[in-house]
Amino acid sequence: MTSQNPAFEHIVVEVRPGHVGLVRLNRPKVLNALNAATLAEIVTAVRAFDADSNVGAIVITGSERAFAAGADIAEMSGKSAADLLADVRLAQWEALRKTSKPLIAAVAGFALGGGHELVMVCDIVIAAENAVFGQPEINLGIIPGAGGTQRLARALGKSLAMEIVLNDRRLSADEALRAGLVSRVVPTERVLDEALSVARQIAARAPVAVRLAKQSVLKAFDTTLEVGLELERHNFYLLFSTEDQKEGMRAFLEKRPPNWKGR
Ligand code: HXC
Repeated sequence: MTSQNPAFEHIVVEVRPGHVGLVRLNRPKVLNALNAATLAEIVTAVRAFDADSNVGAIVITGSERAFAAGADIAEMSGKSAADLLADVRLAQWEALRKTSKPLIAAVAGFALGGGHELVMVCDIVIAAENAVFGQPEINLGIIPGAGGTQRLARALGKSLAMEIVLNDRRLSADEALRAGLVSRVVPTERVLDEALSVARQIAARAPVAVRLAKQSVLKAFDTTLEVGLELERHNFYLLFSTEDQKEGMRAFLEKRPPNWKGR
């Protein structure tokens, strides 16, 4: 895929050096609001990168002013409950959640509502100094609908999650860092480069180990400690069936860099 890919109207997609797939939201007039077509394009691009053996990690970003200001309110305003129930979007959010390669969000400006939920589906979040995180759905008479209440409660604990969801409290980049929503804050003009650099580093690692590492960490968010520990142990054993485990340990003992095969 290249940035010229005519299949996409609302996003720009390209493979960056170091085996990194980049998805850039591109609806500047509405601060990258996620209408159905945009979400569908994001899912198509992410799935294609997930299946592409030339890509080891995926970065999602927006503009300097907005990562994404939420679901598209104009599109959503006339919907009925039955419309939403029949909508493919729930399945699309599930598809994003099931991405096997690492998803890294480079967030500048507003990450609100569904935009913030998109951030929280990502595995690593790099924030620009100007980033603002929040769930303002309550102002529209609704609540988050793509995981916001659940992921915030798990990530931040009850009290802060309640303030954000019930009372539109917005977090600055530094507050998000302190709360554990993001892993680093960088100057705004550096945010994409920083995310691409993290993605390149991960893409250069043993691919099967990266995949099982992601799967194992994610399990911590949706099961008991006992089940999570079992999965971790299972994945740990499984990696001893890969050539890369033999190569990684041999390379350490021979004091040379490993040459990963991805199997
Ligand atoms: C549609 C949007 C939009 C949105 C902004 N715009 N957010 N259009 N859906 N979510 C449009 C504005 O209407 C405006 O269009 C243009 O983008 C620029 O926005 P302004 O408001 O003029 O910019 P500013 O004053 O800088 O304020 C930025 C903002 C504000 C604070 C982000 O736009 C805002 O509050 N937006 C809505 C945020 C929100 O409520 N998000 C949650 C949506 S519900 P014009 O034509 O006037 O220039 C949701 C549910 C998820 O996400 C459910 C998932 C299943």
